Amino acid sequence: MAKQKLSYHCEACGASLSKWAGQCPECSAWNTVRESVKVARPSMTPARAGNYQGFAGQAGDGAVVTLASVETQSQQRLSTSLDELDRVLGGGLVPGSVVLLGGDPGIGKSTLLLQALAGLEGRAKSLYVTGEESLQQIRLRAERLAISGEKLECLTETCVEHVLAAVAARHPDLVVIDSIQTLFSEQVQSAPGSVSQLRESAAALVRYAKDQQCTMLLVGHVTKEGALAGPRVLEHMVDAVLYFESDSGSRYRVVRSVKNRFGTVNELGIFAMTGKGLKAVSNPSAIFLSGAEAAAGSAVTVVREGTRPMLLELQALVDDSHLANPRRVALGLDGNRLAMLLAVLHRHGGVSMADQDVFINVVGGMRLAETACDLPLVLALWSSFRDQPLARQQIAFGEIGLGGEIRPVYNGEERLREAVTHGFTRAVVPQANAPRKPIKGLEVVAVRNLQEALEQCR
Ligand code: TYD
Ligand code: MG
Repeated sequence: MAKQKLSYHCEACGASLSKWAGQCPECSAWNTVRESVKVARPSMTPARAGNYQGFAGQAGDGAVVTLASVETQSQQRLSTSLDELDRVLGGGLVPGSVVLLGGDPGIGKSTLLLQALAGLEGRAKSLYVTGEESLQQIRLRAERLAISGEKLECLTETCVEHVLAAVAARHPDLVVIDSIQTLFSEQVQSAPGSVSQLRESAAALVRYAKDQQCTMLLVGHVTKEGALAGPRVLEHMVDAVLYFESDSGSRYRVVRSVKNRFGTVNELGIFAMTGKGLKAVSNPSAIFLSGAEAAAGSAVTVVREGTRPMLLELQALVDDSHLANPRRVALGLDGNRLAMLLAVLHRHGGVSMADQDVFINVVGGMRLAETACDLPLVLALWSSFRDQPLARQQIAFGEIGLGGEIRPVYNGEERLREAVTHGFTRAVVPQANAPRKPIKGLEVVAVRNLQEALEQCR
């Protein structure tokens, strides 16, 4: 039996430490340092330090080669037959890859994976390992999804060694682990769900996946803050990390890739939860517009998340405040960005909202990080403040700098074309994004700074 040695690491940043500390010296997070067990391997050091000659001739699997001599195979991707999921994965599952799918409880992770496995039936051999639900519960869900499951193999197991033994005996092409937090390894003594268990279990699965070219889909829980429960190292170990996001109460679900070694990040797959499982939404622009009559405080923009442009509505409500510190609430957008834009609006647009409560929201529960939303957001704020609706059928995009200048964003022309497709006739855009050739049916208003943009929308 190998000797066990204690080591410590930070759950937040993954730094390894020699001793426990209340605050991580690397990332300064409090109460994130945890104990873990290191399994010491038998020592291979030659008798005298510095004498490496004993290793000559021992080159095994790890032989050094030149990069040019490495043979590549064109990656045959396995389509899950759920187009939106394939899109987020970068065109399907890559054999031997490990994908982590995170999301709040009840958002639809198990449903999505069961549907994916059913879609693969006949084309790939799969195994569904569950540590959370009973087989009866899965059967009930499958019935609801109208999945017969004749060829779908299931296993209830929480010990990773037993899981791997079952996997090795059956040689499936695809294994779903629902969820990684319920697994434990016999090699580690701490409780299931603890960080060292999580790391050890995930590492064993990743090793097997790479060795045997078996694709693994791991379900991960998220914490209250929305990050994947467990150490960030889990995200480093896998090839792709997908997050399930949704607005509470909304039936739309967004799967976003935050890391993908085989595709684009920030790619979005959009689904609607129905009585019969998740259905792909192929025209997302239509669902994220509120569809209401033009109202004060509402602005439409075109975001480009991943590889496709999408129309979205931003809403703002600016109202007299009775508080000493007026409220600033941002849903779906960064609160600091809002504070910055309010300062720019005051300084360069001459509009002060210091005594106003300001609320902003992205329709449909999307979360946006694109700076292209700056201009439409400021227009929505201004429109609510003045109680004056913006022109109907108008879109806007552009980044706003601290000097009040409006900067160009990527893929301007593509965004404009998406707007035209959905019947928009006017676009307020940064000057550098104005197309060289006019676009039929679209009046493009090119603006250089905030003053010009506000004048154009008056
Ligand atoms: P589930 O996949 O169990 O979520 P997770 O694995 O992420 O915890 O999804 C559960 C929710 O989805 C539950 O609230 C019921 C709802 N649901 C439907 O609305 N329609 C369906 O067809 C299915 C299977 C679930
Ligand atoms: Mg589940």
